[in-house]
Amino acid sequence: MISSIRLVNWRSHADTRLEFRKGTNLLVGMMGSGKSSVLEAISFALFGTFPALERRKLKLGNLIRLNESNAKIILGFSWESDTYTIERILERGKSSTSTGAKLFKNKAMIEDGTTAVTSYIEHLISMDYDLFTRAIYSEQNNIDYFLNLDPRRRKQEIDGLLGLDKFETARSNAVSVIGRIKSKRQAIEQHFDRTALDEMK
Ligand SMILES: Nc1ncnc2c1ncn2[C@@H]1O[C@H](COP(=O)(O)OP(=O)(O)O)[C@@H](O)[C@H]1O
Ligand SMILES: [Mg+2]
Repeated sequence: MISSIRLVNWRSHADTRLEFRKGTNLLVGMMGSGKSSVLEAISFALFGTFPALERRKLKLGNLIRLNESNAKIILGFSWESDTYTIERILERGKSSTSTGAKLFKNKAMIEDGTTAVTSYIEHLISMDYDLFTRAIYSEQNNIDYFLNLDPRRRKQEIDGLLGLDKFETARSNAVSVIGRIKSKRQAIEQHFDRTALDEMK
């Protein structure tokens, strides 16, 4: 369960601390007050990215509060009987923005580095960013995504979600392997006499 988040210079947030409780938590605020930014920060803390960043609608530099040089997200959560804290930082550089991450388990640091932290989280919660954005996290105006797809696309998406698309890939690969073996056999049949071929069989 996600227990708290602190946002320092993340988007419009100068220094925001939120505590979450068991059950449903609602964020209420005027348009532009920074609600979506909180959800994006949760995704970024866990996986180092979120949909608008993936779509390149936003760059890393846009995530740091205007006129500030760095940003920090501190996400606290519990998993089984342990408490974890993820710290992600963004640092505005001359030509690009760099990122860093640290993961603490029961206050002791256990991972350092963005990829190390992301992969630890993926293993811990048995979920990667892909599954997270398809099954857990829904962007504003995207909650009806599955409902608005035509049935064929919906089946494809659900197959992808459940990992069933692998079987379709295997099936079509098998068809092309069979085709290749058949044409090899034909080539052999053309170049060898029957008795030699019977021996080969
Ligand atoms: N890097 C930034 N620095 C300052 N303000 C920002 C930055 N990025 C976004 N904002 C501001 O944050 C607001 C958007 O917040 P958002 O989380 O989408 O609000 P909500 O979801 O509550 O409507 C906008 O007013 C936008 O101008
Ligand atoms: Mg919003």
